[in-house]
Amino acid sequence: MSFMKNTKKRALLLFGGRSGEHEVSLRSAASVLKFMDRNLFEPVLVAIEKSGRWVLQPEIPVDRIPASLPIVSGEEVYLAPYPKSGGSALSFAADSKKTLSIDVVFPVMHGTFCEDGTLQGLFELAEVPYVGCGVLASSVGMDKVFAKRAFETAGIPITPYRVATKDMEPGSVMGELGFPCFVKPANSGSSVGVHKVKKRADLEDALFDAFKYDTVVLIEKALTVREIELAVLELPGTGEIWVSQPGELKVNHEFYSYEAKYLDENGAVPLLPAPISPEQAEEAKRMAKAAFQALQCSGMARVDLFLDQATGGFVLNEINTLPGFTSISMYPKMCEHSGIPYPTLITRLFETAIERHQKRSELVRDFVIPTS
Ligand SMILES: Nc1ncnc2c1ncn2[C@@H]1O[C@H](COP(=O)(O)OP(=O)(O)OP(=O)(O)O)[C@@H](O)[C@H]1O
Ligand SMILES: [Mg+2]
Repeated sequence: MSFMKNTKKRALLLFGGRSGEHEVSLRSAASVLKFMDRNLFEPVLVAIEKSGRWVLQPEIPVDRIPASLPIVSGEEVYLAPYPKSGGSALSFAADSKKTLSIDVVFPVMHGTFCEDGTLQGLFELAEVPYVGCGVLASSVGMDKVFAKRAFETAGIPITPYRVATKDMEPGSVMGELGFPCFVKPANSGSSVGVHKVKKRADLEDALFDAFKYDTVVLIEKALTVREIELAVLELPGTGEIWVSQPGELKVNHEFYSYEAKYLDENGAVPLLPAPISPEQAEEAKRMAKAAFQALQCSGMARVDLFLDQATGGFVLNEINTLPGFTSISMYPKMCEHSGIPYPTLITRLFETAIERHQKRSELVRDFVIPTS
């Protein structure tokens, strides 16, 4: 991109965060810091502590970046909910007149308050270009019930489901679904609060646990599945929606549970490419692109499909708008395997973020009622 060549852009890497995926974020951010193109971008590091405080971090020499970024004490900074210094700048808590200008933000974070539209709302108010999906796609993508409704409307096959709220009788929430079924909080992540329920007697306990994490719970027919994932990337310049070849996660547990994800290093084995037929791969790519468009995503998303062993067809499980982003995470690996190396991927994301911001800033925001 020609606009990138002349001046280095200052890129704010925001990491940590208040979600359960805080530690994953420290690893994702370490990879981004290590591999981002220093000829094009100059990093500014800000950690979000578990308390929510934003703390400016010192630079780390490229050859000394650890696998997981540490959080050290430093000056408290924040983004004001209005544009500062021409639009993009961090403010300092100790001296609100002091600012540090930035050109683009990469929220290298996952989960609640990071990936659900709340942080993206702050970026919008501050008028800062940011990597990834906007407010709407982020919040819908995070809510399993609303995401399903959007996918259904777009004609994308999904798993049969019911929505349960606390006031419903456990006996009435199942409808025709039958057992086994999956019980999941509408908003969660990392399989926290997700249960496979094999018989009616276990339903109440599963619902009780899921309702700890959200007031709305999704119940799904349990399918026998293979887990197929794809990386979707919006390319700068053309806006083309690029989709990687599918990858597969071979899960060595009854399902891809919290234990399989984080506690057992052999919990799941990635297969790149997924051993499926070329026709199946094409179908998976079509679905991933349709899912990205159904939620009006921008920048990137990882689309997770189930290959239903009973029918041989795909159903859409979910979309992740800020997927795990270490250099060995599925999203970057799938991009790399399909021809976009990790450093290029990071550059593309920054470029798309800046372009999207430019386009949106040309929209008319204030409407003055003409006086006659
Ligand atoms: N309907 C289903 N049939 C079979 N397996 C399922 C079903 N729903 C979920 N699973 C299993 O449970 C795992 C976790 O479910 P899901 O992906 O919906 O939630 P999550 O992983 O908590 O969300 P996130 O990926 O946003 O962290 C899936 O990867 C899959 O192994
Ligand atoms: Mg999942």
